[in-house]
Amino acid sequence: MNILVTGGAGYIGSHTCIALLKAGHDVIIADNLSNSKRDTIKKIESISKKEVIFYEVDVSCEKSVNNIFSKHIIQGVIHFASFKAIGESVQNPLEYYYNNVVSTMVLIKACENFGVGKFVFSSSATVYGNNEVPFVESMNLLPTTNPYGETKVMSERILIDVANSNPYLSVSILRYFNPVGAHESGLIGESPNGVPNNLMPYITQVAKGKLKKLSVFGDDYSTIDGTGVRDYIHVLDLADGHVAALENLIEGVHIYNLGTGKGTSVLELIKAFEEVNLVEVPYQICGRRPGDIDSCFADVSKVARELGWRAKRDLLSMCRDAWEFEKNNQEICLNVSEE
Ligand code: UFG
Repeated sequence: MNILVTGGAGYIGSHTCIALLKAGHDVIIADNLSNSKRDTIKKIESISKKEVIFYEVDVSCEKSVNNIFSKHIIQGVIHFASFKAIGESVQNPLEYYYNNVVSTMVLIKACENFGVGKFVFSSSATVYGNNEVPFVESMNLLPTTNPYGETKVMSERILIDVANSNPYLSVSILRYFNPVGAHESGLIGESPNGVPNNLMPYITQVAKGKLKKLSVFGDDYSTIDGTGVRDYIHVLDLADGHVAALENLIEGVHIYNLGTGKGTSVLELIKAFEEVNLVEVPYQICGRRPGDIDSCFADVSKVARELGWRAKRDLLSMCRDAWEFEKNNQEICLNVSEE
């Protein structure tokens, strides 16, 4: 299939492009590079030994999107492009609603207008709010604590209504848990701009000495050791989950959790990282981060049953690959500045 991947230069998008190419699909990437780098496109091509078509465009712009759809025969869309920093979404809600919700509407409208029948949407476990764990797809969604989360809830709602009104449109909504790790080549991974918000990139930068100490946000949650519990999933497993969702997409709307089904606390993750990589991660216990919940992990029975997909990689390979990428990434930066 010829697949349009929005946000294909980003962290999850780039790994998914590689998985799609490996599975024999062709890829067109649309990305405005607002939180990604142009050379990721080259890295995708060098890892997969295949060419991709790249458009540097903002997918909330209807004209740019229609231009792509009119130039290529597209069989499916995977829509990743979205702003994703929770704190920033509280500061700039309008930018988040505009960028994340409008882009979804523009793309699904283009699918209707150009007769594209398959749409896979990148959603998040954040839509479950403070429900009881494990999170099951059929749960009523509780209000999220931030505009970012609301953009995902709204986008899901729009896609469900549109797909229900159009029998030629099939939609798969994928709710991600906590993606970590990197490609085994060490060439692509998560490289956030500035100080990371998320735990794993913070850990790798502390281990490398770029940052001094990790702040553990709270040790008084009702969890195994008091620190927050999350369902970490290797980004390569997540990428494979998209290929499975696309290739098995049948008529209607389908919602799937992409996680491992296993919860890991902050302290457990630090320990696993230190043990497998033989490095130290200095940390201090601090107060809770506003908006955080105790535990977040998936019920993964539906995705296993219906798509035959399950995460294969364990916590140790997530820690190892994240660290390999951090080391490699740093070396590349040093080489560039030395030249
Ligand atoms: N944490 C720390 N110190 C840090 C960063 C995080 O202790 O410096 C803790 C958090 O309190 C939490 C855990 O590590 O308990 C994971 O935090 P992350 O920021 O890595 O991830 P979140 O679970 O908060 O959020 C992530 C994505 C969201 C997505 C959500 C879905 O960032 O976009 O998973 O589950 F919505």
